[in-house]
Amino acid sequence: MDNLEDQFAQEVKDGLTSQPKTLSSKWFYDERGDDLFVQIMQLPEYYLTRCEKEIFSERTEALKAALTDGMDAFDLVELGAGDGTKTMHLLKALDPATFTYRPIDISSNALKLLVERVGKELPAVQVSSMQGEYFQVLERLPNDRPKVILFMGSNIGNLLDDRANSFLKQLSAAMNLGDRLLLGLDLKKSKDIILPAYNDSQGVTAAFNLNVLRRINRELGGDFDLDAFQHQPEYNEEEGVARSFILSTQEQEVHLAALDLRVTFDEGECIFTEVSRKYDDDSIARITDHTDLELQEKVYDSKGYFCDAIFEKVAS
Ligand code: AVI
Repeated sequence: MDNLEDQFAQEVKDGLTSQPKTLSSKWFYDERGDDLFVQIMQLPEYYLTRCEKEIFSERTEALKAALTDGMDAFDLVELGAGDGTKTMHLLKALDPATFTYRPIDISSNALKLLVERVGKELPAVQVSSMQGEYFQVLERLPNDRPKVILFMGSNIGNLLDDRANSFLKQLSAAMNLGDRLLLGLDLKKSKDIILPAYNDSQGVTAAFNLNVLRRINRELGGDFDLDAFQHQPEYNEEEGVARSFILSTQEQEVHLAALDLRVTFDEGECIFTEVSRKYDDDSIARITDHTDLELQEKVYDSKGYFCDAIFEKVAS
């Protein structure tokens, strides 16, 4: 599929005509979705960002050692760079003469803001941002120096297991011997802590989830009545998986003009929208099975809620 609009239309059509109905959480992130996610990261219930921020600010030396020991010069590549708040702690701790910071993001606006911020706060750091899909950009990266890749925020957990496996396989293939990877991973814990993170009292997560219907209305001529749907999160402690659904509160029919499609909903019928996997020692040890990545180090926050795991590419 050549462009994002065509891909969105095709996936919405496939997802809403399948049983059970699905819509991928990757479509949450339009301008409003980006803004809602920034609000989520500041919510009292959403501990993930604070925990990883603590790792970057309090365990900086441990991260630095695991990521860069033995490297004289390297590229620090960040996938899905965001606003750089966490990374800034690491950038500050590194010798600017030894690395180039290469943030990669699909959003050129996010990259522009980030480059400005680093230029202002850390003018000695060399920054070269690249806009686009991760793997297309990774292929375009210069290959003359070792790479340290950051994939933070437990973003990997939003991929279904098969997709997460193929993502890591592809990433491993794009790395050279000795290159390192940091994966931010949210850990399994009690439902009492995880569920509120996906069902906050201010309703921001609900708006974030339902935003995909708003996007369909705008981009595909849909007539979803947002008041007739509600956010439905669940957390399965045994599996360690949080899932979000959009539940139809009544029997109804929705028309998507751009797709020439009518979709009917039963009362209580759900659209599956997001998976958010949580990890433990076992699943972290297995996450890079079928890749040439070897686990080197795990760095935790003080509550033990979140882990930044560091892997190195080894010979197969
Ligand atoms: C981006 N990602 C790691 C978030 C998560 O926690 O799964 C997305 C999110 N969905 C609802 N709240 C936050």
